[in-house]
Amino acid sequence: MSFVDSQRRVLSGMRPTGRLHLGHYQGVLKNWIKLQHEYDCFFCIVDWHALTTEYEEVGLISQHVMDMAVDWLAAGVSPSSATLFIQSQVPEHAELHLLLSMICPLSWLERVPSYKEQQDQLHHKDLDTYGFLGYPLLQAADILLYRAGLVPVGADQVPHIEFAREVARRFNHLYGREPGFEEKAEAAILKLGKKTAKLYNSRRKAFQEKGDVEALDTARALLQEVQSITLGDKERLFGYLEGGGKILLPEPQPLLSTSPRLAGLDGNKMAKSNNNAIFLRDTPAVVEDKIKRMPTDPARVHRADPGDPARCPVWPLHQLYSSEETCQWVQQGCSSAGIGCLDCKGPLIEAIQTELKPLQWRAVEYEENPELVRSILAEGAERARDEARETLIDVRQALGLNYR
Ligand code: TRP
Ligand code: SF4
Repeated sequence: MSFVDSQRRVLSGMRPTGRLHLGHYQGVLKNWIKLQHEYDCFFCIVDWHALTTEYEEVGLISQHVMDMAVDWLAAGVSPSSATLFIQSQVPEHAELHLLLSMICPLSWLERVPSYKEQQDQLHHKDLDTYGFLGYPLLQAADILLYRAGLVPVGADQVPHIEFAREVARRFNHLYGREPGFEEKAEAAILKLGKKTAKLYNSRRKAFQEKGDVEALDTARALLQEVQSITLGDKERLFGYLEGGGKILLPEPQPLLSTSPRLAGLDGNKMAKSNNNAIFLRDTPAVVEDKIKRMPTDPARVHRADPGDPARCPVWPLHQLYSSEETCQWVQQGCSSAGIGCLDCKGPLIEAIQTELKPLQWRAVEYEENPELVRSILAEGAERARDEARETLIDVRQALGLNYR
């Protein structure tokens, strides 16, 4: 049994929808770029998930994958810090998905809120398919395959992570029980040495009797350091902390990003499908044009009419991009009709252009060298596969599928 420190491991995935916009950058990529220096990160382009809804237009997916990869790289997701890869290049995702499908109750899948919501929202597509129903299970496989403890996602994805937790729990419950587990765990405690054993026991007790999560963390950290026992025993002691069996697949937690959702050009959520996005690779001229066309406070029909930033979709962008001083200038100038809307938009246009400039420089390098992008993704897939294979060895063994 191989050992992974799941509390240090992060996995996230994004559906390949093509070029990314400022909403992705502010809400997701900036967070990933920070996490990649603090954790062992796996970032996956989930092309099979795209197929669950786009199976009638498969021609676009590969271009979308490349566009997204270029934008990740240009934004600063770094192949030397994180593992970037395409889901379908790691076939182990499919194997784990299949194996988990054996134990996943249909009712759990039908109950996931996104199932009915998406069917209603995308009613022009026939989503009465096996693949679409299995979407959350494929996502669970993505996560559990890497034994990732932390999954950075938006609030909309929390039910999917909760679902993955339940699947992991069920799997561990069914297959993590070995004969004589408790005796083996107790024997392993004795091998820890007196001091460590005492600490382990007291932390375990604090967690099991009082739900003390900090105690659980301390005990885990303690075990991490231990050198004197076998990996098998270590696994047992991790499992024994929380319950009655080995933890074959650790339960993941969502890691919610704190950045507020970015509003688009019309004040609604920024999304490609809402046609209100500024794309990371929009040229300075396009950025300028898009912002100049943004609607403003409807009360400002004429230049002399005072306005209220709270009613203007330009204002949230100022709050994100502009200095305190500029924000005050906007507040003051808008409510007194001291500035016009085009004046107001000027510093914003500049701030966004400035932010995008270095990113667009990098994007050009990758656009001009698609082979480089492909090789980064291929190397990522190799690294990911190495981890995925390790997990599947344990999973196959737990299911009695280790023929040799
Ligand atoms: N369902 C996610 C979304 O729509 C994408 C996704 C697929 C994902 N697999 C994942 C996210 C694994 C996090 C972890 O955004
Ligand atoms: Fe909006 Fe600025 Fe015009 Fe006020 S001055 S309505 S904040 S664009």
